[in-house]
Amino acid sequence: MSTKRKIKIKKKNFSIFISIILILIISITLIITKTTNNKTTTKTIPKNDITAYKDKIDYYNNNYKERYIKYEKKHKNLTKEQVIKNVNMNLDLQFYKDTFKTKNLNTTIILVNKYYYVDKNYVPNNLENIDIKYSLKGMKLTKVARESFEELAKDAKRENLNIIAMSTYRSYEYQEKIYNDYVKKDGKEAADKYSGRPGHSEHQTGLAIDVYNEKESYTNFEKTDEFKWMQEHAHEYGFILRFPKEKENETGYIYESWHYRYVGKKAAKYIKEHNISLEEYYATKIKDW
Ligand code: DAL
Ligand code: ZN
Repeated sequence: MSTKRKIKIKKKNFSIFISIILILIISITLIITKTTNNKTTTKTIPKNDITAYKDKIDYYNNNYKERYIKYEKKHKNLTKEQVIKNVNMNLDLQFYKDTFKTKNLNTTIILVNKYYYVDKNYVPNNLENIDIKYSLKGMKLTKVARESFEELAKDAKRENLNIIAMSTYRSYEYQEKIYNDYVKKDGKEAADKYSGRPGHSEHQTGLAIDVYNEKESYTNFEKTDEFKWMQEHAHEYGFILRFPKEKENETGYIYESWHYRYVGKKAAKYIKEHNISLEEYYATKIKDW
């Protein structure tokens, strides 16, 4: 072999060697960069950080991020789901102190409670009188709730059960009067446990109804066959028991076996099957509240 050719082969081998070294350096650099990046990401969002649940829990609300973090610090025994749900229900805030004007007016899913209120002049559309066969005189509900209630009462009557509406739509002024009377009678703390302050009672929505069976006082409704029937069937007509036992923390009211709320069949079925309050339904199923 000629000297020239030898030099050419050596040059070629050298180039291949340099290329391999370069490829190795680039690969190692890439691997190191990736590992460092991963470490940084893990450091910024630790697996147990509640903000990492943004994409895992569909009712996570990014606007409440700081509240989730604060609430979780105070309630370390709760799961992330519970923290997020409770904050969505405003349980980190105070009844009647932190209040908001409610949305979804004139819908069957409107939420009125100790946080959410309707204006003094809010009167729902389509208020109608309930058939006197199933109601005390002058009781009104919105059209869809009125129709559904009459259907419910008619079907119960076929089984010899009397489900009678005794308090339904109440204006702001009427609620103000009865709330003030209760305060005078029992004091504010006690009254707040069973009566809504004006603007904060869902009776003003025309979707709430107190019932009795004409024989027993409404406060004894729980002991009646009519109550048993309601337990089994109210949801089929779009009604829910609004203030159940063991939901007092969320609703802010003591158990009321006589107070039902029209929410529509779909929501009523879901609420009944999952044994949740309307507040929990809002916190987990309704995006805009
Ligand atoms: N009794 C219910 C809570 C109301 O007054 O709205
Ligand atoms: Zn009521």
